[in-house]
Amino acid sequence: MIIAIDGPAASGKGTLGKRIAAHYGLRHLDTGLIYRTVAKVLLDAGHSPGDAAAAVAAAKSLDPSRFDEVALKSHAVGEAASVVSAIPELRAALVAFQRDFAIKPPGAVLDGRDIGTVICPDADVKIFVTAAPDVRARRRAAEYRAQGKQIDEATVLADILKRDERDQNRFAAPLKQAQDAYLLDTTHLDIDAAIWAAIDIVEATRAGRGRD
Ligand code: DC
Repeated sequence: MIIAIDGPAASGKGTLGKRIAAHYGLRHLDTGLIYRTVAKVLLDAGHSPGDAAAAVAAAKSLDPSRFDEVALKSHAVGEAASVVSAIPELRAALVAFQRDFAIKPPGAVLDGRDIGTVICPDADVKIFVTAAPDVRARRRAAEYRAQGKQIDEATVLADILKRDERDQNRFAAPLKQAQDAYLLDTTHLDIDAAIWAAIDIVEATRAGRGRD
């Protein structure tokens, strides 16, 4: 089974993806970490995040087992990842890697921006997860605080809105809900309620019935 989870920044899709994968015994790939890794390689080497040739070169030596989530989840890397991910040549260079991951038994949960639309258009289940921007900003600011980073919520909100704008309006594989994806709005749900809602979507899809 392949489950595609897409959604905007800080919508909770990473946590959802991880927990859904554990629930069904599937592998999990947070595809945002791929773009973040490429962005970090570029930043560390002093390249601009818009440098297409350097980005494609970095994509060729990706090793997900070495992803350092804490370093990659920084604010600066997220911003650079949003810029890097708009490079069409980079996106093209990463398609095979993501598809190979998805089809290996017993299947996988992939979360990102274009999983249901581009990477796995035939996924068994597609979920588009979202939440109101101020709620996403509150959750992301709380995550930063838990890591000991002080960053105010208004700044996080401004960045989230900027990132939404960039991710939705880029030419290559923009963020959008696939036609056959279920919309899961977690504005008023805590993480456990969101997970159960997602499981309900998966079960309803597998049983061949629409969701209530
Ligand atoms: O989900 P995230 O915040 O870790 O993603 C970081 C950036 O990477 C995001 O701004 C857009 C980009 N991204 C993408 O373009 N396509 C994906 N499948 C995943 C992430």
